[in-house]
Amino acid sequence: MRAIVVKSGRMELAEIPDPQLREGDLLVRVRAAGVNRADLLQRVGKYPPPPGEPDTIGLEIAGEVLEPAARRGERVMALLAGGGYAEKARVPAAQAMAIPDGFSFEQAAAIPEAFLTAWLNLAMLGGLKAGEVVVVHAAASGVGSAALQLCRGLAPVLLATASPSKHEACRALGATHVLARDDVPLRLAEAVQAAAGRGADLIFDMVGASYLEANIAALGLHGRLCCISTMAGARGTLDLAALLHKRLTVMGSTLRTRSAAQKAKLVRDFTARALPRFSSGELQPVLDKTWPLTEAQAAHDALQANAVVGKVVLVV
Ligand SMILES: NC(=O)c1ccc[n+]([C@@H]2O[C@H](COP(=O)([O-])OP(=O)(O)OC[C@H]3O[C@@H](n4cnc5c(N)ncnc54)[C@H](OP(=O)(O)O)[C@@H]3O)[C@@H](O)[C@H]2O)c1
Repeated sequence: MRAIVVKSGRMELAEIPDPQLREGDLLVRVRAAGVNRADLLQRVGKYPPPPGEPDTIGLEIAGEVLEPAARRGERVMALLAGGGYAEKARVPAAQAMAIPDGFSFEQAAAIPEAFLTAWLNLAMLGGLKAGEVVVVHAAASGVGSAALQLCRGLAPVLLATASPSKHEACRALGATHVLARDDVPLRLAEAVQAAAGRGADLIFDMVGASYLEANIAALGLHGRLCCISTMAGARGTLDLAALLHKRLTVMGSTLRTRSAAQKAKLVRDFTARALPRFSSGELQPVLDKTWPLTEAQAAHDALQANAVVGKVVLVV
């Protein structure tokens, strides 16, 4: 089959062997593959696949089942630990979901990684509840655009941080308040107070060190900080006095390295509680642009330049 391979940090199409199936796997003819920020790191050797996973880039796909024969032709979207930028992918069956009616393969490929990451951190780990004050950083990112929609209607104050040019998009996805990304370190706590009259209950952060002090200052009593990335550094100063006095919880997680059983549980929970909301139109993948698989490098360049709102997808 044809797939994208990396040579000297750049991507090109090449012929590679078909995936080897394991027990319980589906073989899927990939029609579209989502592009994620983590793919950029993997391309330059900074985010290697977990042991036993393909070293081909690509964490999510949508396509048609080829094997087993009994499921041939089913339209699925799936979370992968690697191998998405290819004509065929090996998919653990428990990580595949039926594509909601009316959604194209391109739209479907924009769902798994962003929405499952947001669901894991907001609903399952973060314990999001109705009535809470929520902050979503990098809110116009793929993950952020999913997070805003999952909080919409639950959080009466939903503060999004992003580049000012993306604020309108954040409001369209449910943000009630916005703050420029450069203002976060100095103004986050003040902005949350002005919006809610109190501190935040939940902050979803993928920016990292440069936001840490502001996040701790902006949280209210029993506030939770969910960290999923370190785009702006991994080491910061943690104010332990604030942590104690406000009884805060700081948690971190990665989706890719979780066990097959944990991913299966996440997919089950998401399928039962969130997937039906796509059919009703309440949730939508935010698809910025598609590229043919052969132009994967252009898709990476767009992400790297922060020139994307929501997701970009490769058409295979
Ligand atoms: N731990 C996990 O399980 C997990 C899972 C999925 C993704 N992630 C991580 O979550 C992050 C988002 O992923 P994605 O694929 O959704 O990303 P993406 O679509 O590429 O969006 C990233 C956005 O973050 C903002 N940004 C970039 N550098 C920044 C900085 N230094 N300070 C503040 N904002 C910055 C930019 O938006 P603005 O122009 O608005 O600033 C950029 O468009 C990535 O770091 C990814 O690795 C983690």
